[in-house]
Amino acid sequence: PLRLTRLDVLTTPASMRAWRRAREGSVGLVPTMGYLHDGHLSLVEASQERDDLTVVSIFVNPTQFGPNEDYLRYPRTQQRDVDGLEAAGCDAVFLPSAEVMYPYGSKNCVQMHVPGITDILCGAHRPGHFNGVATVVSRLFNMVQPDIAVFGRKDYQQLQVIRYMSHEMSFPVEIIPAPTLREASGLAMSSRNQYLSAQDRITA
Ligand code: PAF
Repeated sequence: PLRLTRLDVLTTPASMRAWRRAREGSVGLVPTMGYLHDGHLSLVEASQERDDLTVVSIFVNPTQFGPNEDYLRYPRTQQRDVDGLEAAGCDAVFLPSAEVMYPYGSKNCVQMHVPGITDILCGAHRPGHFNGVATVVSRLFNMVQPDIAVFGRKDYQQLQVIRYMSHEMSFPVEIIPAPTLREASGLAMSSRNQYLSAQDRITA
């Protein structure tokens, strides 16, 4: 269980929607998989600049990981993340479980298939990845019902997939692209930088 926090912590679609309904003003959503770094906090700031309230979701989404990818070892640092979001002045955090996100299981869920742009570039090497991203983001839009959602330009292909999906599905959500934050070396900040060796970092 989480230590007490001033942040509102919501874990189910019903409680998330009730929170949203009980508040006036616009809501910005920053979807994340946790293990937050300054790049994520800059997305929170981008939302705070535009909206009355900011919700950050933290969910390590099984449908966007391939069978040999790092789903099980992806770092899960919930308390640290929630403390950081509270310090950043975020209003609420949405922490759905896998059972809540995929009630029939992640193998039997209704899926989004975004044609064309999911098959090229990074998508050519990660079959199913971007469809998994579109699947979870559509669910988050439905559960949180935000006015805007902020995505980093670092994941440029992801940003385009989400724009395509959201436009096609007529979600009333404005997609806001946010600039890439970099380390002093110039490397784009990413939770997965921890996997890089010293040589990998130079190459990256
Ligand atoms: O960019 C990410 O962290 C994830 O792909 C996202 C958008 C939170 C969906 O799981």
